Amino acid sequence: MARISLSHLGKTFASRHGNVTALADINLEIADQEFITIVGASGCGKSTLLNLLAGFDTPTSGQLTVDGAPVNGPGPDRGVVFQQTALFPWLSVEENIAFGLKLRANRRKGSSEKIVERLLARTGLAAFRSRRPAELSGGMRQRAAIASVLAINPSTLLMDEPFGALDALTRSIMQDFLLEVWEEERKTVLLVTHDIDVAIYLADRTVVMTAHPGRVREIIAVHLPRPRRYEMRSEERFIALRDHVTGIVREEAIKGAIEIAA
Ligand SMILES: Nc1ncnc2c1ncn2[C@@H]1O[C@H](COP(=O)(O)OP(=O)(O)OP(=O)(O)O)[C@@H](O)[C@H]1O
Ligand SMILES: [Mg+2]
Repeated sequence: MARISLSHLGKTFASRHGNVTALADINLEIADQEFITIVGASGCGKSTLLNLLAGFDTPTSGQLTVDGAPVNGPGPDRGVVFQQTALFPWLSVEENIAFGLKLRANRRKGSSEKIVERLLARTGLAAFRSRRPAELSGGMRQRAAIASVLAINPSTLLMDEPFGALDALTRSIMQDFLLEVWEEERKTVLLVTHDIDVAIYLADRTVVMTAHPGRVREIIAVHLPRPRRYEMRSEERFIALRDHVTGIVREEAIKGAIEIAA
């Protein structure tokens, strides 16, 4: 049964330059614990889609349900990690991770300390627990942001270019870190990326969107064994998937560019 269901979902923005249809007739069923990646040309509506799922914005048509209920604003069941890390600059790493837990009134102190300890260890930040975000590297900051989201134990993770600001090496380490966390915590993940290799490497299924308005162009099932290993990227079946996805994304980006020029 689907955990997340998007049915004829559409979003049109009213702007000074007229209406902009960002998303049109999106249909997608996402299973519990599925890892979905979303790719598509710039401006095709990927962030808009995640914002709707996060409950930061509302659809203008169609339906969006999580666990059978319509999304009605943000909730602790959906953790959000965007490119710019959402950490409190005046709190230490440890305090940032503990922050969300404090908001959940019914948790006993003992168990919340245990959760923070486990996440500090899991993200390799135990030795940096007292540091403020400004005293961390980009990769460490992003791990701290992920830890603070995981602390609330959301069943769904919504990630928009979560490692986009990092260098290539740190990025690839963070992808493996994310996969390890996902294998351990079994969450449903929707991750937006412009990097097709990453989209395939992480996903159970990759959704390719059309450019303007964003629709689902194709859903590609990634039948690569898990756990994924970095070396898989040079295997023939990986390269075949990458070429296929790249072909569609390029086609859509070119179509979009022609439409904009017209
Ligand atoms: N608040 C808004 N008001 C008006 N138009 C908007 C708003 N937010 C997004 N749009 C428009 O909706 C379309 C989709 O934007 P969105 O940010 O979702 O694209 P994206 O796929 O995330 O792009 P990128 O890959 O560059 O991040 C764009 O045409 C954008 O201009
Ligand atoms: Mg975006």
